[in-house]
Amino acid sequence: MPEENTKYIQGLIERNAALEKQNTLLSSRVEESAVTLTRLYEDLRSTYMRTIRVLAQAIDARDHYTHSHSRNVAKYATAIANDMGLSARQIENISDACELHDLGKIGVEDSVLTKTTKLTAQEWEQIKKHPVIGAKSLEPWTFLNDVIELVRQHHENYDGTGYPEGRKGEDIIIGARIIHIADAYEAMRSARSYRQTPLTKEAAIAEIKKNNGTQFDPKVVTAFLRIADTIE
Ligand SMILES: [Fe+2]
Repeated sequence: MPEENTKYIQGLIERNAALEKQNTLLSSRVEESAVTLTRLYEDLRSTYMRTIRVLAQAIDARDHYTHSHSRNVAKYATAIANDMGLSARQIENISDACELHDLGKIGVEDSVLTKTTKLTAQEWEQIKKHPVIGAKSLEPWTFLNDVIELVRQHHENYDGTGYPEGRKGEDIIIGARIIHIADAYEAMRSARSYRQTPLTKEAAIAEIKKNNGTQFDPKVVTAFLRIADTIE
């Protein structure tokens, strides 16, 4: 082989080795940046969540009967979601949505929210708007899109008789079907402006069973009954 050819090939090999080294360096930098970005995103998300949570707690505090309601709903819904084998991300979204689910009650008058007697049709219409008001208030936080959908759908019934859209069955996202049961159970187990004495655990469970397949998804009811021993 002529000498210049050998030199040329050697040069190619050297340049190739240098490129490979540069490539490795670059890809490790890309990996580092991806890790940093993910961490920044998580930090940002949790900072926003803390802010929004304070707002949600203020809503809870408006009606002392529902104080700490959202936190309890999160506890029950997370237990059900875990039992059903949902992903860590889905469970995190459900937990966040539980803390924020009644945020839209900010748009409901105090007198309606704390009324001890039967609601008029007009007052009831006001209450029914809270899932949409809540979802709309959270819309600017686009990274909360999945959470927002859960907030919007948390009063949909499995048989299509719920609100705001009258969604039915699997058309309601699974997390919302879970929050629906957790929310109802928590409401029955605590004192309310319209009912001073909470239902016993047995009575509340009986009520969930009674609404199996109508208000609630049978699969979620089954999971709820499996975890019922672990909650108050
Ligand atoms: Fe609600």
